[in-house]
Amino acid sequence: MGGMTLRKILIHPDPRLKATADPIVSVDKDLRALADDMLETMYDAPGIGLAAPQIGVLQRMFVMDCVKEEGATPEPMVLINPEIIAASEARNIYDEGCLSIPDQYAEVERPAVVKMQWTDLDGKIVQEEFDGLWATCAQHELDHLNGTLFIDHLKPLKRQMITRKMQKLKRELAREAKNG
Ligand code: NI
Repeated sequence: MGGMTLRKILIHPDPRLKATADPIVSVDKDLRALADDMLETMYDAPGIGLAAPQIGVLQRMFVMDCVKEEGATPEPMVLINPEIIAASEARNIYDEGCLSIPDQYAEVERPAVVKMQWTDLDGKIVQEEFDGLWATCAQHELDHLNGTLFIDHLKPLKRQMITRKMQKLKRELAREAKNG
């Protein structure tokens, strides 16, 4: 059987979530195993996107699947060294959340359509245009590779409020872990 492992998702604030991730130099067996773990962890959470830094791996890769309808065929995607090569002037606002910032949501405005280029798990260069939720998700995940969280797009006061809630949550989680 495949050796997929659920990884622990880091909770903000954490210096690893603020770091710039390194480019990936070779697409090999280890990287494919990491991608499998990330998809497993994302679906389990559940979430629609997960970037490698969120599990403490500072490499430029993220996974996403924005198919949310019950019973629909999943569309798992793995993007290695992704970059935006074109973005629409038209913008879209989504109520965003993040697995590293549980239960907090806020509206973020981003380009409505983006064309991205990345390397796939076969080492091939791929280009695709994303719109709707896929475009928002792809940009949110790409942000993670540059140490940017969705709350960094908010006004400072709102960002500080959410960060304080997360600090409190982390203290509670640490206490629970200590008390078993
Ligand atoms: Ni996120």
